[in-house]
Amino acid sequence: MKKPKFQKPLGMHDILPYEQKYFRKVYDAVQDIAEFYSFGKIDTPVLESAELFSKGIGLGTDIVQKEMYHLKTKGGDALALRPEGTAPIVRAYIEHGMINRPQPVKLYYYSPFFRHERPQAGRYRQFWQFGFEILGEENPIVDAQIIQIFYGLLMDLGLKNISIEINSIGDKECRPAYRRSLVRYLKSNAESLCANCKKRTKENPLRVLDCKEEKCRPVINGAPQMIDSLCPECKEHFKKVLEYLDEIELPYTLEPHLVRGLDYYTRTVFEFFSSEEVTENKKRLALGGGGRYDYLIRQLGGRDVTGIGGAFGVERIVQLIKKEGDLSSKRKKTKIFLAQLGDLAKRKSLRLAEEFRKTKILIDESFGKDSLKNQLARASRIGAEYTVIIGQKEALEDTAIIRNMKSGKQETVKFKEVVDKIKKLSKKR
Ligand code: HAM
Repeated sequence: MKKPKFQKPLGMHDILPYEQKYFRKVYDAVQDIAEFYSFGKIDTPVLESAELFSKGIGLGTDIVQKEMYHLKTKGGDALALRPEGTAPIVRAYIEHGMINRPQPVKLYYYSPFFRHERPQAGRYRQFWQFGFEILGEENPIVDAQIIQIFYGLLMDLGLKNISIEINSIGDKECRPAYRRSLVRYLKSNAESLCANCKKRTKENPLRVLDCKEEKCRPVINGAPQMIDSLCPECKEHFKKVLEYLDEIELPYTLEPHLVRGLDYYTRTVFEFFSSEEVTENKKRLALGGGGRYDYLIRQLGGRDVTGIGGAFGVERIVQLIKKEGDLSSKRKKTKIFLAQLGDLAKRKSLRLAEEFRKTKILIDESFGKDSLKNQLARASRIGAEYTVIIGQKEALEDTAIIRNMKSGKQETVKFKEVVDKIKKLSKKR
């Protein structure tokens, strides 16, 4: 067949009617889980100031240096087609004074993004991403919760054999010393690095750890590990994240050289993979990834507020759904609030949240808050029918209190019977 005169731009693709069901499936699952965990949807413009990304993602990153589509307007503004969603979300958080709303602010997006990469299977120049971000909460429980949300979502889509890689890359206290020891090591192995990494050693040495060149692999494998240089605060934070992940039995592995390709990360970073590999020239491609960005809000002109989030490539997930996913759909019902006091109760609540999600009962929580009064106030505000309260006493006794928010009546039940009890109560309505 003769090639038509006009074709879609290189690296971009049409989503035809018979493919829509896969994309729809991902969209519905994202919306359901976002609603379940009380994330609000946000749409930002496709174009943003180019400086937002060079400042936010980092000048020395591949995304900013090589992959961003630039545009100069007639009025002389330097804009860029957004290559990712976190910097625009932080921009919107600051610009709309979301700091003045109850924290944390939980946002999600589902939008097209643009990167001028070499087009390959699973790598496009226009692609869809969904992401979840929690701004204004430092507590490590939200790190675990973000990972739990993404894992739960992939399970809802019927995907199997998902693995999670996780690391901590420290903060401004401990990273400089690590950086120095990494540079020392890289300089002494310079002859075994690719040309790009020789440059990166000087400009942005952590990026070397993210290099995909085969040549650099052995050097990266032998490099010093950030985890050995963490300051006590970062170590404690990371330990807690891992304890929470253990509590909810997520299949993670520690990946000591995981740094991710964007400069804004601090502390927790993670990536998701499938054993049904999405590959490009035999290189594994991540389904999604994310992490903490505790300085980004400040760096972009906001207050000293921390954040964490992650994003997934929809095309890569659709590729997997076609192979092994489930196209049937399940939807949800009642609204429950989970309130907790103390660390043990927090862990139990995290586990309980997952139990409720599996049964499609809607919940909300403020895991980062410790005051019961504030938590109950939030439960009333969102119109929860019941609040499950796990105080320190209940956590130790393996029980929970179920409070009817309308009548104020409370009863204590065994922890493992909470979900069944709520199911019965919601049937009676
Ligand atoms: P990222 O790792 O650059 O992170 O992208 C997240 C996901 O988007 C990737 O794992 C991949 O599935 C998909 N993706 C990226 N580039 C392409 C492409 N060219 N073609 C197809 N899919 C692609 C971020 O974007 C961060 N903003 C994530 C985040 C949110 N961190 C904190 N919050």
